Amino acid sequence: MSAALQLDGFSTGYAGHPVVHDLNLEVHPGEVVALFGANGAGKTTTILGIAGELPPHAGQISLFGQSTKARLHRRARGGLALVTEERSVFMRMTVRQNLLVGRCDAKRALELFPELDRLQDRRAGLLSGGEQQMLTLARALARRPKILLFDELSLGLAPLVVTRLINAVRAAADDDGVAVLVVEQHIQRMLRSADRVYVLQRGRIVISGTPDELAANAAAVEGAYLADAVVPATTTADDETCVASSQTGGRPQGPTEKGKT
Ligand SMILES: Nc1ncnc2c1ncn2[C@@H]1O[C@H](COP(=O)(O)OP(=O)(O)O)[C@@H](O)[C@H]1O
Ligand SMILES: [Mg+2]
Repeated sequence: MSAALQLDGFSTGYAGHPVVHDLNLEVHPGEVVALFGANGAGKTTTILGIAGELPPHAGQISLFGQSTKARLHRRARGGLALVTEERSVFMRMTVRQNLLVGRCDAKRALELFPELDRLQDRRAGLLSGGEQQMLTLARALARRPKILLFDELSLGLAPLVVTRLINAVRAAADDDGVAVLVVEQHIQRMLRSADRVYVLQRGRIVISGTPDELAANAAAVEGAYLADAVVPATTTADDETCVASSQTGGRPQGPTEKGKT
């Protein structure tokens, strides 16, 4: 079966200036693939390039075996969902309203995240960060995507919520065959659920493999982070590896449903 998503020699960047180079990457239906790398390594640029938000400078992207140059809205119609670093919820709307807009199947969203049920009349802007991210993921999955690109699944959230979100994308892959590519800072936690991993360093994939293969090569993974790191690594309360990352401003707008605080 062809990959849901395949990059061959793909490069992209901003204003003609390449940032990620010669990427070869694939995600199959039912796979959860993690994209790791230090702050500034090019993870977001890669995700935006795959989504069609940034133009290819070289190489190609294929979705289900078909090479594409389509923009995001056309890829979205083909079943590709993008969640950018900013939480994709309407902050002034209630949870109920959020679950009714944008081809979202509210019943499905609540099946996936029953914890949102009691919050339905609350404005999204008044939810905790974890609840907002659950709403974001619920909305993305309730549109029944075939491919889910998720930039910073759980940045800044509590360990229990991190696990809840990672388990939810794992279930989407296992139960519905969604091909998931996720940027996640909680490396150790993600390694327990991912099928495969790519590590970016200065815009290039320097390591790829299964979590077991990476565990055997932990020093190289650490090296990729240290080589790029502009901020020191930090450790979360549950002793998971978590590399700090900052928001990058000035990038192109993502999907229409940008959250406003
Ligand atoms: N809108 C932009 N214009 C120009 N350069 C950018 C833009 N956004 C990011 N970059 C640069 O691209 C590189 C990779 O950034 P990014 O993909 O955001 O990394 P990551 O998501 O891994 O932290 C960085 O050097 C960053 O400064
Ligand atoms: Mg980023």
